[in-house]
Order: sequence, then structure tokens, then C-alpha cells
Amino acid sequence: MGKALDLMEASPIIGYDANIVGTTDYGATTDSDVVVITAGIPRRPGMSRDDLLGTNAKIVRSVSEQIKTTSPDAIVIVVSNPLDAMVQCAQQVTGFPHQHVLGQAGVLDTARYRTFLAMELGVSVKDISALLMGGHGDTMVPLPTHTSVGGIPVTELIDRKRLDEIIERTRKGGAEIVGLLKTGSAYYAPSAAICQMVQAIVRDEKRLLPCAAYCDQQYDVGGYYVGVPVILGTNGVERIVELDMTSEEKADFQKSVDAVKSLVKTMDSLLAS
Ligand code: LAC
Repeated sequence: MGKALDLMEASPIIGYDANIVGTTDYGATTDSDVVVITAGIPRRPGMSRDDLLGTNAKIVRSVSEQIKTTSPDAIVIVVSNPLDAMVQCAQQVTGFPHQHVLGQAGVLDTARYRTFLAMELGVSVKDISALLMGGHGDTMVPLPTHTSVGGIPVTELIDRKRLDEIIERTRKGGAEIVGLLKTGSAYYAPSAAICQMVQAIVRDEKRLLPCAAYCDQQYDVGGYYVGVPVILGTNGVERIVELDMTSEEKADFQKSVDAVKSLVKTMDSLLAS
């Protein structure tokens, strides 16, 4: 409630007329168009996102049960970790259409990747266009073949060894922040990523963004949430874009999908017990 009031009091200076309310009552959120779930414990230094599974699955399940009754037509964006499993949990519990439940990860991970590339090249982040696929974990798959700087393929500007180092830093980007903050995980970049996604939905922007979306036949995933490029608009995930990957990228993507599958399996048995 304090944060909401604080944000409201910034509105005359920044110039917006939104009504911001803090509450612990789900009733106040009735019939929301978009619900963002960030509930759960964050990582501490040394922990992986997967270490949060048992605790956060129970939290996300309970939040999802509430949303199911209070906002049955909502589009739900999950941010809680381990992300890909938590989105699956939210969809399973709410029973909402798959295209109405998605996860925030790719926009953040791609933003980190673009930041590091801009730092490396000394160019504006605005000119870096990049794509990243797979789960939101150490196996995520940045795609150098789909990364460009002002239209120039990044592979022509940065040598492979250095690019691999940047990709590795991107994969560990969340842990780098946890290591620096010590008592929590990233706030600002994840929030900016969520804002971009919510805006795409409420303004029906048809943005093409990497999100954790439910893939069945797509990419031969077989019914799991993983990071893929999607068109995001008023109906949520309006389309999953399928693109060609090199055999190396395909193998990396498959490894990431396998990691997500095993996480979901562990989650299902934890929730059943
Ligand atoms: C991160 C968390 C939000 O990557 O997963 O910082």
C-alpha cells in the first residue's frame, strides 16, 4: 500500500493519471484484464532458479487458484521462478486457454544480451536486435544468427570467442545480479520487461517478443512452456513464430527443453505429494 501511494504521488511530476492501489485482498483485483504473478521467494547467492521449485510451486498454485475465481478472463503473465515450470503450474491450476497464460523471461534475457553487446561494441542498445530461446535457466539459447546491429549480423562485428563469453554472461545474468544484491534478485529490468509485454497486450501492439509460451507441435516441444518468439496482442500469445535454427542451435534448444521437462516432472510430483 505504501509503494502504491508513493507511485501515485509521483504521477503529477511524471504526468500520468493512473489509479494505483496496493492491497492484500484478491477481491480488489476482480475481473482484471491482465494479471502478473511475481509471488515467490527470490534466489540467494549460490542458489539456482531450480532450487526455488518446491516453495514457489505451492505459492504459485495458491495464487493461481485465487485468480481462477476472481479474474477468469485474465491474461496471466508469470514471472516467478523457476519460470518455465511456474507458468505450466499457473496454466494447469487456472485451466485458462494456453494462449492466455505466458511467462516473462525472454524479453529480460534478450535485454541483458543486448546490453552486453552494446557495451562491447560501444553502440546504442537501440540498434541491437536479438533473439533468445529456450528455458529461463542456464541452458537458455541466445541465437547469434538472429542477432544484428543496425542490420549487420553480430557475427561480422564480434569474433566467436568473445561472443561466446557474452552469451555465457547473459545465461548467468540473473545470478550476477543476485551475487551483487545478496538479498534478492533483479527488479528494474524484469519490471521493464513486464511493462513491455503488458503494453503489447493492452494496446494490441502485435509485438514480436520472446516469451515462455505453450508449445505442442511447435518446435516439436510436446506440450510444455518454453521461450520462443511470439506475436503478443490483445488475445495474449496470438501466434508462435517458428524459425530455422542451425543444427548446433537446435541441439542447444533441445537440451533446454529437456531441462524444462524434467523440472515440470519434479514439480508435478512435488505438488501431488
Ligand atoms: C532474473 C530473474 C527475474 O533473471 O529470473 O533476474
